[in-house]
Amino acid sequence: MLILGLESSCDETAAALVTGDRRILAHRLAGQEAQHRPFGGVVPEIAARAHVEALMPLIEGALSDAGVNLREVDAIAATAGPGLIGGVMVGLVTGKALAHAAGKPLVAVNHLEGHALSPRLSDPDLAFPYLLLLVSGGHCQLLLVEGVGAYRRLATTIDDAAGEAFDKTAKLLGLGFPGGPAVERAALAGNADAVPLPRPLKGSAEPHFSFAGLKSAVSRAADSGQWRAEDIAASFQQAVIDCLLDRTARALERADGATALVVAGGVAANQAVRGALERLATANGLRFVAPPLWLCTDNAAMIGWAGVERFAAGLTDPLDIAARPRWPLDPDAETVRGAGVKA
Ligand code: KG4
Ligand code: ZN
Repeated sequence: MLILGLESSCDETAAALVTGDRRILAHRLAGQEAQHRPFGGVVPEIAARAHVEALMPLIEGALSDAGVNLREVDAIAATAGPGLIGGVMVGLVTGKALAHAAGKPLVAVNHLEGHALSPRLSDPDLAFPYLLLLVSGGHCQLLLVEGVGAYRRLATTIDDAAGEAFDKTAKLLGLGFPGGPAVERAALAGNADAVPLPRPLKGSAEPHFSFAGLKSAVSRAADSGQWRAEDIAASFQQAVIDCLLDRTARALERADGATALVVAGGVAANQAVRGALERLATANGLRFVAPPLWLCTDNAAMIGWAGVERFAAGLTDPLDIAARPRWPLDPDAETVRGAGVKA
């Protein structure tokens, strides 16, 4: 099986060719950091325009890297949401046009499902069910992944996502954009015990997350002029890790049958986060699985792989399917306070 995957939901444009036996024949990616940097964050209109310009050359490049043409592809998988709607539309419409022109089925992929299944691309032994901590720029959720298309959300953030808190902290500390890697770098030179910061919701009964209070505390610490940026970064990162660990441990109590603790999404590229979660998994007698760093942040290989899994399950979509700015993985999950915005 050979699937062309397309990704354009935020600020990375990407195309990849992935096979049913987990070979990534090609993956190409164009970031937009330079275009967004002057604004200190992703500007949706700039992103959509950049996707339009980048996508077709990336697809042609990926096909040529893999030495295949569109007729040899079994299906085209494109992110159909959630994300910045202009960008999602660019990728989905391109996917539809190629599917129509080549007479191939379309697989409309939920970007979050791309992240959720990506650990199964890098680890052939990862079986369902597993407990997934999905931590990215827009999401912070704990999901019991029971199968393709079968997700039980155990927790979500009641305000901000963890990646968003990293990005905001980087901005407050003047560390630049994109924020996550910058904070991680600065934290290496800082003292994690230096700045007293809160651990929102730590110890609470439901395994939900909250980062808004932490963000405000970082802002106050930065304004006080009392601390080195490195110390604030290290203390912030440690506070996030403490929250992630406490909340994940709570969710593990409810993760019936899970054999592995899995982390995915952009924040999973953080080495300190990975290390802490690995220790938690080991302490609970679980396998720990994290995709390689490049597969944690947005890319098209994970969309191609979700396409493989869905196509193998007979799940294809009509060409009139709509792009969706919001698209929860678990539609039955209760809404929690504030989660309407970020879930
Ligand atoms: O999954 P992703 O690439 O895009 C979304 O779907 O949101 O995640 C991007 C997020 C950003 O907030 C970025 O700052 C964060 O992941 N991130 C990191 C690191 N690398 C990326 N956060 C902490 N440490 C990192 N090394
Ligand atoms: Zn993502």
